[in-house]
Amino acid sequence: MAHQYISELAQHEEKTVTLKGWVYNVRFSKTNIFVELRDGSGFAQCVISDETVGEEKFEQAKQLTRESSLALSGTVVKDERQVGGYELQVNDLEVYTYASDYPIKVNETEHGVRHLVDRRHLWLRSKRQWAIMRIRNRIIMAIHEYFQKEGFLQMDSPIFTGNAAEGTTDLFETDFFGEPAFLAQTGQLYGEAMCMSHGKIYTFGPTFRAEKSDTPRHLAEFWMIEPEMAFFDNEMNMDLIENFTRYIVNSCLEKCANELQILGRDISRLETVNQTYPRVPYTEAIKILRGEQEVNGKNAIAVQEADLAAAKEGIQEKTKDIAEREAAIKAGMKKGARKFNEAKIIALRSEIADMEEQCRNIPKWIESAKNFEHGEDFGNSDETVLTRVFDAPVMVYNWPAKVKAFYMKEVDGDPDYVKGVDLLAPDGYGEIVGGSERETSLDLLVTKINEHQLPMEAFEWYLDLRRFGSVPHAGFGLGLERMVRWVCGIHHLREAIPFARRYGQLFP
Ligand code: 4AD
Ligand code: MG
Repeated sequence: MAHQYISELAQHEEKTVTLKGWVYNVRFSKTNIFVELRDGSGFAQCVISDETVGEEKFEQAKQLTRESSLALSGTVVKDERQVGGYELQVNDLEVYTYASDYPIKVNETEHGVRHLVDRRHLWLRSKRQWAIMRIRNRIIMAIHEYFQKEGFLQMDSPIFTGNAAEGTTDLFETDFFGEPAFLAQTGQLYGEAMCMSHGKIYTFGPTFRAEKSDTPRHLAEFWMIEPEMAFFDNEMNMDLIENFTRYIVNSCLEKCANELQILGRDISRLETVNQTYPRVPYTEAIKILRGEQEVNGKNAIAVQEADLAAAKEGIQEKTKDIAEREAAIKAGMKKGARKFNEAKIIALRSEIADMEEQCRNIPKWIESAKNFEHGEDFGNSDETVLTRVFDAPVMVYNWPAKVKAFYMKEVDGDPDYVKGVDLLAPDGYGEIVGGSERETSLDLLVTKINEHQLPMEAFEWYLDLRRFGSVPHAGFGLGLERMVRWVCGIHHLREAIPFARRYGQLFP
């Protein structure tokens, strides 16, 4: 018999349906069993009572454990208090399998990260991870929607490549029939070729960087979306970056409200995409960073100092709050009130831990920002400090040539700078997009390839693009997981992809 899905319950109010899924959580009372069922489409409370299912089935239901799989039939009843607004009053059930000793608790914070990471194949079932993967799916769909409506052609670029485009230090080398080949760091060079055939294209594929860095924002295998547009300069490129990322975030706000709520995401911080994104040249950005130039009356260093003071004060207040609650519990209170206060104390402790982390970090960030030297690339903390004085994502453009890739176009009359652009997300999420206008001069490209000590023969085909009908063009790369991380408000990229591949992690 066909079954129904939790996401469709509203269409079946007061009717009988069959749901098939897994026990997310289960509570027992004398006469009722409350199963929180998950079926992939959502979560719903299902109430099994001894009166409606009969003794034998009720006995079976009593054995239910987390992640046991089953089919439940019953009546759909509106219940405002339930997530999703509906509850199933069960009149029949069929158990597929009982799971014993499921290793992940409903409250995952009780486990260390390692415990969860090692069980990623199971961790994916938990509510937060479910929400993140749904948002990832929405972002992927929004990307295709946007480009398809704007007349871009999707192309697949090769994964085995003979070229290093983004620096030679982080290449994965493989054996390609006896020849060395690299896993693609980017599809861009192929995108440039295809854009001379189709005008506007985008790649959407896996890319690889052998970065031996165990940071929350680096993966060894990540998905990149790289549009490339003929007859675009860097201004038009920035317009596209702005409209494109705004579209993605708004699409998530509109279609993933439930998922964002599960994640506790502060929606107002995402709504900043509806402001105009400030565009700041690198030389100005570093003055802002060092506190030498203000933005709307805000000084980056002073803002950090204020954040630090606020964190210190917050710790004192919250510590006092905890002490008062503990004293009140000790003095005696009703079970309900005690439970409430105990939960509140746990939440306060976690807020204090975050603030303590800020107190450790901010002084280092201030040091790094004040001493930032012209010509350096931004570190994570510099991006955090810089974006803090703006109210929207920020685009930094015209970068020093020596920190950027060989293909970026020189700024007119200023060969020390290139027309690159990075999009920095607010609140510490940092670089989401990197892009540029591309160098069109054959001579300059040859010089740059030599300067970067790249093998010329591997780039001959690329140089053909400049030999035959060369035109101004530009493009960028969006890191999918970086986007997911920002929208979801999660700390680490390993939660933004189903199975992360990163330094020190190949399993599961
Ligand atoms: O800035 P990147 O290195 O730029 C390029 O690869 C260009 N070829 C793009 C282009 O112009 N077509 O990388 C682009 C984006 C970064 O902004 C970041 O979001 C993401 O890819 N990224 C990573 N994401 C996860 N792990 C890593 N190790 C990443 N390296 C870059
Ligand atoms: Mg970059």
